Amino acid sequence: MAFWRSCRELDTLLDAYEKGTPFYLYTGRGPSTESMTLGHLIPFIFCKYLQDAFNVPLVIQMTGDEKFLYKKITLEQAQQYTFDNARDIIAVGFDVNKTFIFSDMDYIGHLYPNVLRIQKAVTVNQVRGIFGVDDSSNIGKVSFPAIQAAPSFSSSFPHIFGNRTDMMCLIPCGIDQDPYFLMTRDVAPRIGYLKPALIHSKFIPSLLGIDEKMSSSIPESAIFLTDSEEVIKKKIIVHAFSGGQATLAEQRLKGADLTKDIAYQYLTFFLEDDNKLQQIGDDYGSGKLLTSEVKNILIEHLVAVVNAHQIAKDNVSDDVVRAFMAIRKLNF
Ligand code: TRP
Repeated sequence: MAFWRSCRELDTLLDAYEKGTPFYLYTGRGPSTESMTLGHLIPFIFCKYLQDAFNVPLVIQMTGDEKFLYKKITLEQAQQYTFDNARDIIAVGFDVNKTFIFSDMDYIGHLYPNVLRIQKAVTVNQVRGIFGVDDSSNIGKVSFPAIQAAPSFSSSFPHIFGNRTDMMCLIPCGIDQDPYFLMTRDVAPRIGYLKPALIHSKFIPSLLGIDEKMSSSIPESAIFLTDSEEVIKKKIIVHAFSGGQATLAEQRLKGADLTKDIAYQYLTFFLEDDNKLQQIGDDYGSGKLLTSEVKNILIEHLVAVVNAHQIAKDNVSDDVVRAFMAIRKLNF
């Protein structure tokens, strides 16, 4: 799977799993905008793959509280984005019998005992060192990390896990979330809990170049889940950074630099056929294929992915969202 980047103690978790210790998946989303990008979807596609492979429960935290504290949005907007982003997440294809989506703003009472245990075990100094808060930061920023840490412990979900204490936790997330879980892994043994294991997914690079990530605040850097076929075409043709050579003759002679070529890099995420990908890489890298041809292949795939997503999202009604967010038992 091309989505995987690095991990923390995954081997320990998988060894224990093989010997019969169960685990659950925990991930989340900070709903700061209505318009999610393809990049936002990657960790969730990755999570679905893991959920299907291991047949394990998954909890998804929606941190409207975090975005309220960090961004210029109102609480009402945070609530609305939470609901709308949940529809995008559900459209990835999660199984309602194995997936619990919760909004901090509603579920906080259930998290609170563990939030308190964590808050008591972490000092302001540590939060300053890990998250860069300073004396003028709002105090919500100092206490929020405990809220993101709490779902790493199965006792935060008594309706799912009862009082069992052997449940391990695996957190698929972007590398930018690592500080939260370094803190979590540090406090876990001090409050009598198991350390969560982590698996980091890759970021989709910006259309504009390999060194930046896709960002919803720079529209020409990103493919949005709401983009039409025309818009996707145009963005890729006009903006996708090419690793190909400047002239046709040169391209035929030298071939493209695949490491910098955005169209090719995106195909490594979205082309499922590894042999085909290999062939395209060989042909493009040796000059047999041109940038325009590779961009066309990418357009075809991305349009299909985004269309399928839009249809799936249309089928996620408000009732379906409420079903995913209901406090209930899961089957696993
Ligand atoms: N802080 C994350 C964001 O801004 C949201 C989040 C909460 C999360 N819990 C998580 C992400 C667990 C990954 C894993 O998007």
